[in-house]
Amino acid sequence: HELQMNLEQIEKGGYEHFMLKEIYEQPSAISDTYRGRMLPDQGIIRMAGVDDNIERISNARRILIVACGTSWHAGLVAEYIFEDLARIPVEVEYASEFRYRNPIISENDVVIAISQSGETADTMAAIKLAKEKGAFVFGVCNVVGSSISRETHAGAYTHAGPEIGVASTKAFTTQITVLTLMALKLAKHKGTISNSDFRFHLQELERIPEKVKEALNSDEHIRGIADIYKNATNCLYLGRGFNFPVALEGALKLKEISYIHAEGYPAAEMKHGPIALIDEQMPVVVIATKKGHYEKVVSNIQEIKSRKGKIIAVVTHGDTEVRELADHVIEVPETMESLTPLLTTIPLQLLSYHIAVMLGKNVDQPRNLAKSVTVE
Ligand code: AGP
Repeated sequence: HELQMNLEQIEKGGYEHFMLKEIYEQPSAISDTYRGRMLPDQGIIRMAGVDDNIERISNARRILIVACGTSWHAGLVAEYIFEDLARIPVEVEYASEFRYRNPIISENDVVIAISQSGETADTMAAIKLAKEKGAFVFGVCNVVGSSISRETHAGAYTHAGPEIGVASTKAFTTQITVLTLMALKLAKHKGTISNSDFRFHLQELERIPEKVKEALNSDEHIRGIADIYKNATNCLYLGRGFNFPVALEGALKLKEISYIHAEGYPAAEMKHGPIALIDEQMPVVVIATKKGHYEKVVSNIQEIKSRKGKIIAVVTHGDTEVRELADHVIEVPETMESLTPLLTTIPLQLLSYHIAVMLGKNVDQPRNLAKSVTVE
């Protein structure tokens, strides 16, 4: 037993929990995921699974993304990126819903299945159905040789390394990295992106690991915020555009490991209902980075403030406007809009981590949850 304990300590590499270790591994996990695939100087992206099927994928009538949980959130981010860059219509579906609603799907569709474990039963069942209907199925998995990676026609692995914490962290950011590369590659092939824009994206992506490191520097500051709000019973997460799925993911992280009820919403949707929840007890986490409808988000923040909600804002480094309104700001470095999810996710992971630790919860193995859900 003691030997096992020691082994686990070694595996955690000096971190108190796997989740924290995995949060901190993100700079290298992201660069491991793009290394060898992207050559910014030459303006090239090489991905065997996409290269070998480039016509099939780029001529897709639409792309259907199926996944569950955090992987589904990565799919939502990808929807924005694929439509923006490659101009291919994208739909994102919960794998579990997809198969039970007699979906319209044909040989002209491309299905992308996203799964960290590659073993999720609902996602697997959706893949089998899509294949029966003649669709081309592309897998984005982390675990090499997993069932889903074997069942799909082609795929691209995330190179996140083993993810032990039940709450997914580095799998999410590396999924977004792979899907961004894929969208860029298709955009280039289809001619929906200029050469200079393409290169600019690659250069910016190459800078992301450094920027994730910078975002991680807010860890102590975030711990202080966690200490203030750890006893909240509810929490709202808001974001727009590329950062709307990040709000969903932030809320999921808090729910999973701290058992605090949290909801993610597109910021503009607040006025259609959730605003009724806001009072002086309610912490509201708002992603308010520059670009991406910034002014609109600022006015959403004003609405929360006038109802006395407590505002924790994730902002771009150097921001002054939101700082004046919010109770707390957490800065992330500036980057192009489509890449902001890779940075804005980081403080939300840390916030939920610290709250869960302070509440004495089992961070790496939350109650009722399994790392991969192999039952339907
Ligand atoms: C994420 O924190 C969750 N534990 C969970 O939602 C997970 O993302 C989901 O079960 C999908 O798993 P997969 O990526 O291995 O398919």
